[in-house]
Amino acid sequence: MTRPPDTPDSAQPFVRRDGALWVEGVSLDAVAARYGTPCYVYSRAALEARFRAFDAALAGRDHLVCYAMKANSTLAILDVLARLGAGFDIVSGGELARVLAAGGDAKRVVFSGVGKREEEMRQALAAGILCFNVESASELERLDRVAGEMRLRAPVSFRVNPDVDPKTHPYISTGLKENKFGIAYEDALALYRDAARRPNIAVVGIDCHIGSQITEVAPYLEAVDKVLSLVDRLAAEGMLLHHLDFGGGFGIRYRDENPPEIAAFLAGILARVGERPVKLMFEPGRWLVGNAGLLLTRVEYLKHGVERNFAIVDAAMNDLMRPALYDAWHEIVPVAVRAGGTRHYEIVGPVCESGDFLGRERELALAEGDLVAVMSAGAYGMSMSSNYNTRPRAAEVLVDGAAAHLVRERERVESLFALERRLPG
Ligand code: LLP
Repeated sequence: MTRPPDTPDSAQPFVRRDGALWVEGVSLDAVAARYGTPCYVYSRAALEARFRAFDAALAGRDHLVCYAMKANSTLAILDVLARLGAGFDIVSGGELARVLAAGGDAKRVVFSGVGKREEEMRQALAAGILCFNVESASELERLDRVAGEMRLRAPVSFRVNPDVDPKTHPYISTGLKENKFGIAYEDALALYRDAARRPNIAVVGIDCHIGSQITEVAPYLEAVDKVLSLVDRLAAEGMLLHHLDFGGGFGIRYRDENPPEIAAFLAGILARVGERPVKLMFEPGRWLVGNAGLLLTRVEYLKHGVERNFAIVDAAMNDLMRPALYDAWHEIVPVAVRAGGTRHYEIVGPVCESGDFLGRERELALAEGDLVAVMSAGAYGMSMSSNYNTRPRAAEVLVDGAAAHLVRERERVESLFALERRLPG
């Protein structure tokens, strides 16, 4: 590989042997031959190493790591993490159903999101989740009523918006006043008092999440301080919280970012929390899965032009939306190193949009039929994929040592319109 792992505690499962790229004990050539392309390939060892590193950094404190499953909600990924004792951060009834199907424990599930529907609340209450991360006064009102109808008490944490700039891409900033997320900091105390008086609500925690791909500790600590000051004010009024949840957002290396080591990142937070007798929770998504997966794709055509050269591959923006949506940069490497002249390529897919690119201006030696790997694609890759252009979603393979497991079949075209109906007559 051309770059070092992003933190010393990350496993490096993607290695070159005799010029060819392998994931653990399986060559990507073999994966492509067996399962075709485009195909997401994950490393179980990398995933486990990341979870263990995160968990170990919290050792000695009562804690729960709730994987933000929106990053990658494939059952096999959830299963691997559930076996390690992970909790889960969900944002829909669909995610709850998935996590339960994967063997996750409802008692370790927190439910985030600004738009929980009534039936989703019922589903989560019936399953007995750990907590609802409530994001508005209206949501509290609704949850109180729904829980009352079910003769249950809903465990609640308020997601406060600390109004902190996480210094990341504006589309993935969430903790600023202008964002739709969370409860305004100034309104939080009043809402806690209101919740404490409601018969069908049990106030258990507080949470925040200021954004994603955060590579600096300072904004995170600023948010932590603001949350802690609320926690102390609540305690002074006799409202003792069971847990503090600081969300996710821990950045990874895609290119040249230098996020702090996770242990150092978390140590800073632990120091701020000090001796307060509470359980600590986090909701990492990207940090756990991002660098544990890649997107394997094959070059269909090369178009060498006067202005630009294009490598048209069989993966597209519908498979990996991040470059088109955020102008995100993913490293793109050939699976087999080819001797000979490199050129600058636009790596593009077959979708009919100029925004359909996976990488721009990449210097590579390529021939038609070559395999290339789009790296760091484990998070927000498959989970954000679509069927645009009636493209079946990619297959997914989880490598475990020398074994490659097909954990999701490539979609079949017929299934894409199986729920559709033509007009009668
Ligand atoms: N908790 C909450 C409430 C969240 O909204 C998110 C992510 C997370 C945790 C996990 O954040 P992470 O640890 O993965 O940064 N699609 C974008 C990222 C969107 C993040 C949305 N919320 C991307 O591809 O970069």
